[in-house]
Amino acid sequence: MSPSVFPLTFILLSLLLNDTAVIRSTGFATADSAVYGDKESLRLNKLQWKHQMISNNNPTLLSLKTRTEKGAIVLEMQHTGYLLKPIRDWSKRLQKQLIYDDIRVRSFQSRIRETIIGQPQVVSEAQIPITSGVKLQTLNYVVTVNLGGENMTLIADTGSDLTWVQCQPCKSCYDQREPLFNPSVSQSYQSVPCGSSSCNSLQFATGNNGICGTNPPTCQYVVNYGDGSYTRGELARDSLLLGNTPVKDFVFGCGRNNRGLFGGVSGLMGLGRSDLSLVSQTSDTFGGQFSYCLPVTHAQASGSLTLGGNASVYRNSTPITYTKMVQNPQLSTFYLLNLTGASIGGVALQSPAFGQGTILIDSGTVITRLPPSIYSAVKAEFLKQFTGYPQAPRFSILDTCFNLSGYDEVNIPTMTMHFEGDAELTVDVQGIFYFVKTDASQVCLALASLMYEDEIGIIGNYQQRNNRVIYNTAESTLGFAKEACSFN
Ligand SMILES: *[C@@H]1O[C@H](CO)[C@@H](O)[C@H](O)[C@H]1NC(C)=O
Ligand SMILES: *[C@@H]1O[C@H](CO)[C@@H](O)[C@H](O)[C@H]1NC(C)=O
Ligand SMILES: *[C@@H]1O[C@H](CO)[C@@H](O)[C@H](O)[C@H]1NC(C)=O
Ligand SMILES: *[C@@H]1O[C@H](CO)[C@@H](O)[C@H](O)[C@H]1NC(C)=O
Repeated sequence: MSPSVFPLTFILLSLLLNDTAVIRSTGFATADSAVYGDKESLRLNKLQWKHQMISNNNPTLLSLKTRTEKGAIVLEMQHTGYLLKPIRDWSKRLQKQLIYDDIRVRSFQSRIRETIIGQPQVVSEAQIPITSGVKLQTLNYVVTVNLGGENMTLIADTGSDLTWVQCQPCKSCYDQREPLFNPSVSQSYQSVPCGSSSCNSLQFATGNNGICGTNPPTCQYVVNYGDGSYTRGELARDSLLLGNTPVKDFVFGCGRNNRGLFGGVSGLMGLGRSDLSLVSQTSDTFGGQFSYCLPVTHAQASGSLTLGGNASVYRNSTPITYTKMVQNPQLSTFYLLNLTGASIGGVALQSPAFGQGTILIDSGTVITRLPPSIYSAVKAEFLKQFTGYPQAPRFSILDTCFNLSGYDEVNIPTMTMHFEGDAELTVDVQGIFYFVKTDASQVCLALASLMYEDEIGIIGNYQQRNNRVIYNTAESTLGFAKEACSFN
């Protein structure tokens, strides 16, 4: 840190303490400190949060929109927060969200360890079974598709493969907003026979073999999620309509026995890499390409999930930078990347863990998890640049927290992740802090450390907000560009 930085920091702080409006540090800076202290201002919209909570008492939105453009299907995407019941205690809900997020991450780690070493990881919490899959509570971005003539709002999840809906007649179903899928009114519904190739794909896609039903011998599936949630039912085919593009004989799970807190949605859309995922099943139409732009949770904005790879559909404000997906035959249902570096406020961080193994990118994990050596470098540099703000107690997995209730606006160091081949993910200013308290009295750096250096890092959806993230499974590349997410 060059000494010239001190006065700059000091000036900024005293101005902010007087509740001054936007101040960009780069505007004052010398060439040196501009590079050192790249910052972006964030308005602490405390009032907007209160309005948000009131409007949440009357959740209305379902049947998110679709459109077709330049050979691509664009599906409107929203946060499930809008589908939930009124939120009485926001902090409790946020705490719960982080607990579920942690369960999801641990379940990933044990699945990965199990796959690589052939041995389940010893986990301390006995209630977390060693099964494949993920916890659904936190898979929180939804889209609406049409299956067998019925609108179905589904969670979009790149961390799993089988698409499923709750199905009639239901043995045990959780509450959902839309009517249950009813196979008997669909002309095109067919059950999948056991022993078929789709049935045999279940083992790889879900970690569980298809089971032969008796009379008729249909293929029964089971997906167990890390926290005890599950879906069980019949593997089936029906016509799927994505926008106005039909997908015939789409294989999905007709779930007759489902448990979990799914926020009232009808099921899940699997966007992983195995044969059964929606991406693989529609590869003739969309070339194995999709992308999304995840909107900020607490804004009225909606983002988009785009199937097909015509870049002219995107509204990115920076050029797309690409990296290649890391090939790991044992983990081939996941999207893995090679994280080669990171910078805070333009300062490149050092860690022996960069360029080493792989990091997983996931639409369903909320908070990014980094190997301890990288996390500690990020934290140290962030604290060095974000100085003078009162600290607040840690919250759940988040250990770097501040009390910003006395500020209307703060300047936050920019955060960038670098990937093999000069690809960059610039974290949006809305993706850096997690607001534990709506009055900003507890605001935490939205990143967490993994327990062990050899665990696999995960780039969570919080840090992907307001970016176009482009998956090309045909060419095994992944692209990033800044984009203000909106469907319209
Ligand atoms: C299904 O969704 C489409 C658009 O997303 C909407 O126009 C249509 O009315 C919906 N149908 C039903 C039965 O809700
Ligand atoms: C992509 O969009 C451009 C611009 O509209 C169009 O010229 C091109 O044909 C499209 N490509 C495909 C593969 O649809
Ligand atoms: C990651 O990238 C670095 C730097 O380009 C390279 O040396 C390393 O071999 C790559 N690692 C993997 C697992 O691809
Ligand atoms: C946060 O800071 C404000 C002053 O800026 C103070 O009044 C308040 O008590 C602090 N809250 C907590 C929880 O420390």
